Amino acid sequence: MVGKIAALGENVHFIGAFDPMIRTFDIIMKTANGSSYNSYLVRGSEGVCVMDTVKKEFSDHFFKRLELLCEYEEIRYIVLHHLEPDHSGALDELMQRAPQAKLIISGRAVMMLKALLKKDIEFEIANTGKTISLGDKTIEFLSTPFLHWPDTMSSYLHEDQILFSGDVFGSHYYDERLFDDEVGDFSYAFKYYYQHIMRPFKQYVRQALDLYQQFDISLIAPLHGPVLRTNPQNYINKYELWSQDAKAHKNIEGKKILSVFYMSSYDNTLAMAEKITQGADAVAGMIASMYDLASLEEQNMIDLLEESDAVIVGSPTINGDAVKPAWDLLACMPYLESAGKVGATFGSYGWTGEAPDMLHDRMQWLKFRLPVSPLKIKLIPTDEELKLCEAFGREVAEIAMGKMVELEL
Ligand code: FEO
Repeated sequence: MVGKIAALGENVHFIGAFDPMIRTFDIIMKTANGSSYNSYLVRGSEGVCVMDTVKKEFSDHFFKRLELLCEYEEIRYIVLHHLEPDHSGALDELMQRAPQAKLIISGRAVMMLKALLKKDIEFEIANTGKTISLGDKTIEFLSTPFLHWPDTMSSYLHEDQILFSGDVFGSHYYDERLFDDEVGDFSYAFKYYYQHIMRPFKQYVRQALDLYQQFDISLIAPLHGPVLRTNPQNYINKYELWSQDAKAHKNIEGKKILSVFYMSSYDNTLAMAEKITQGADAVAGMIASMYDLASLEEQNMIDLLEESDAVIVGSPTINGDAVKPAWDLLACMPYLESAGKVGATFGSYGWTGEAPDMLHDRMQWLKFRLPVSPLKIKLIPTDEELKLCEAFGREVAEIAMGKMVELEL
């Protein structure tokens, strides 16, 4: 059963597949309401274009829908906006069934295509401004990379004012009624999807929104979840708001934020954290604050990390390791843009004191700038050592404010 074939416009139809039972997507996302793999078919007076395919296991539904709308020999173009397997799973089979069809992908997708299909296949590259014609339908391509893979692109169907946005504006939300005005309330899924998929790529979201702005958009056709036809500008506005600089809502123009995250068993790492924060806060233009990881929820960690220009993490060493909340904090970074943030680590220890070094290494992999060595103090910090902590905080803050330093290699 493939259900009804939904029409998005004149001769534009949904031919994707629904996956109501999926509960985890891409390992990192919970999908309480399932999801869908959206693909679309555009028929013009001079042939057919297929927009994306579906996850391989759902190929049957895709092909059944497609066969209700066209013959394979009518397909002139296959457009893949994004090559992740949930959208390219039926590509190989489709190319075999429609060998005359021209495959269109972005330039960055070329290597991925080879890696996915393990064979050479002919394709055409689409950059911003390239158009294809189906007679009375014209499709224009837009380069919108890193949303959320390097290969991603979008396209715009002029005659119907439809934006095919790839994963942008998607939701993991299964509802066969398909259109945003007919499905249940998916607003939580729309935001959750943005936060987990698009948030690390805010600058690219803003670039894509700038490109979309030139078009009158009557309907947004994303690769997952509801098709957005009720005032699409509302959804664009949400993305605009969410992709602003994390500090845009704060009245701190010209200032920077430094956050000290710590955990402490016997108040020694706490004492270090206090002095580091004081030292950092004394630097002109820097707002420094400290946060006890013992009672910070993950969402708060993500929000605080996002707005911080500098992040200093402190942990005691317990059984040769940093404490779990410190690792949990750093595990939030893949949800964020990390490049350019200044980082540093510290901690009090009893025996071996590896924790600050281990956290330092991890932050290096996460692309923090780490201009100072980890600060380690054995057990209770002396007054002299507390002065070192203050100087440490000051140094990190000054560097975050723009002081030039030689980075350690
Ligand atoms: Fe929906 Fe990034 O694949």
